[in-house]
Amino acid sequence: MSAQSKARRITAPDIRARKGAEPLVCLTAYDAPMARLLDPYCDLLLVGDSVGMVVHGLDSTIGVTLDMMIMHGKAVMRGAKRALVAVDMPFGTYEQSPQQAFDNAARIMAETGCQAIKIESGTYAADTIAFMAERSIPVIGHVGLRPQAALADGGFKAKGRTSAEWQRVIDEAVAADQAGAFAIVVEGVDEDLGREITEAVSVPTIGIGASAACDGQILVTPDMLGVFEWTPKFVKRYDNMAERTSAAVERYADEVRARQFPSSAEVYALKRKDG
Ligand code: KIV
Repeated sequence: MSAQSKARRITAPDIRARKGAEPLVCLTAYDAPMARLLDPYCDLLLVGDSVGMVVHGLDSTIGVTLDMMIMHGKAVMRGAKRALVAVDMPFGTYEQSPQQAFDNAARIMAETGCQAIKIESGTYAADTIAFMAERSIPVIGHVGLRPQAALADGGFKAKGRTSAEWQRVIDEAVAADQAGAFAIVVEGVDEDLGREITEAVSVPTIGIGASAACDGQILVTPDMLGVFEWTPKFVKRYDNMAERTSAAVERYADEVRARQFPSSAEVYALKRKDG
């Protein structure tokens, strides 16, 4: 395929321009083959630090490292040619100072070739977002339920249960917007709060468990494909891969035990040259 006929990659300004327009279709991706399958349908693929839980079997995202994110980011970039690819900054790689965040974000972008990074952003993170955005790093904020704060919060809890918490989430979103984020993931809030946040900011909101009041939605791909027995309540399952995979593997195991698989002679149809 010539350089001219390649599909144009979606950029941060393209995503930014979708505020209040056609909803943004976003999913997580962690490897090249799945990224290739998702790419034609998605505006944005996020290499989420959820990779720690859904691929590596960790209990939380806390143990995810920069090297893990870079390895998965490179794989997704090999598979996705059209969607904007954003890579999550894992816990401990951006909170210390804007300079620390910039250095690690620049490394992620240079080594993976991704188009943006995402950070979980309390109001404290506004300076960090501004520092990176002013230095040409496209940043996505993430407010509401912030999985990296689950230990401090006592679990993965929806936000907006008190007036103070409600206001805090709005403040987080407005801070990320004013600091220069080009989109904001809003996780774990009810529809009224999702709408209020979406109206309060100038950039698209991408909801996860945050209702259709947002400017788009992102889901963790293995959740929506039904890879796990348990998924969060807000996730609609579009398939049941756990059941279908078990059924396929059971069939395979039965056939191997019954020696119902082609012999290499059938597959290669080799003719002995010496006889
Ligand atoms: O890590 C992740 O997959 C995320 C999504 C839940 C938005 O941050």
